[in-house]
Amino acid sequence: FTIQNTTVSESCPSNIALIKYWGKYKDQIPANPSISYTLNHCRTNTQIEFSANESFSVQTFLAGKEELKFAEKIEKYFRNIEKYLPWILKGKYIIKTENTFPHSSGIASSASGFGAIAKCLMRLDEQFSYESQDSSIANDLSSFILKKASFLARLGSGSACRSLYSGLVVWGESEEVSGSSDLFAVKYSDDEIHSVFKNFNDWVLLIHEGVKSVSSTVGHGLMNTNPYAERRFQEARENFVPMKEILKSGNMEQFIQLVEHEALTLHAMMMMSEPAFILMKTGTLEVINKIWDFRKSTHLPLFFTLDAGANVHLLFPNDGSEKQIKSFIESELLQHTQNNGVVKDVMIW
Ligand code: PMV
Repeated sequence: FTIQNTTVSESCPSNIALIKYWGKYKDQIPANPSISYTLNHCRTNTQIEFSANESFSVQTFLAGKEELKFAEKIEKYFRNIEKYLPWILKGKYIIKTENTFPHSSGIASSASGFGAIAKCLMRLDEQFSYESQDSSIANDLSSFILKKASFLARLGSGSACRSLYSGLVVWGESEEVSGSSDLFAVKYSDDEIHSVFKNFNDWVLLIHEGVKSVSSTVGHGLMNTNPYAERRFQEARENFVPMKEILKSGNMEQFIQLVEHEALTLHAMMMMSEPAFILMKTGTLEVINKIWDFRKSTHLPLFFTLDAGANVHLLFPNDGSEKQIKSFIESELLQHTQNNGVVKDVMIW
């Protein structure tokens, strides 16, 4: 096959886990299965200009600004995936990328970022490897190509592999989800999901914008020596049983209990690590307590999940109660953010 100069662009959303992935083995194999919601508005848009027959180099621009550290990371990533894309080290790359949401906002830009890069790489692969085929795969990435994109995204950032599909997505082998794999993510069957979960808000309160004190790479690593790790991995696997039933039945109360438990367990694992670390801030705890008080007095379905950071993902369905919930958020919760920072997304499909 021939390799030519070419430019490809792709967009990929971020995702937020409901059952969390925290702890991994060699080659980005997760210690337990996880399930996430794929966001809509919070995306990374990436363009790759590939110049063939030049010596291998990577230049990266984030929102127009050259980023040398990011280029180093991508270069290492490309070398690592050469066994799956044999042409990858045969040219020069200019990668221009921008996020539609604020930087270090606690919305996983590594998930959307590696998702978008993996999709771009599959576009290039398509051109180089399947050049003579008809163009029926030109608009949408075919299911095989999406699976490979998910596989490649995983090798960049574990949770990124879940961003390749819309709706609810599972990564990691689970007896409860047929076709699930440690190597790539699969879409959770829409037929198995009650309609109340298909029109859901995720509003991220920006409690603390800034670099995290402990990166997720280090955090995952600390699970290797965490005395509670095995129990946690087992619990996450077991949580797929009630999750599956809840998703089918639409039991919101049980969904809330399970999702909040997962979020707090993630942070409990951080506190039980050696050395311990805490990524929540005072504002995180204040918001959690206010959510619990609000639920107690109104019985409305506002609840939270957390990523590996201080920001709070507020989850609530569009089921008729959202107007009252939104006004509570604006009047009571925004005050705990820096600069009234909130990123509003919605998962509808
Ligand atoms: O994708 P990573 O390796 O940065 O890990 C992130 C893991 C969490 O976001 C904290 C949880 C998850 O399942 O997404």
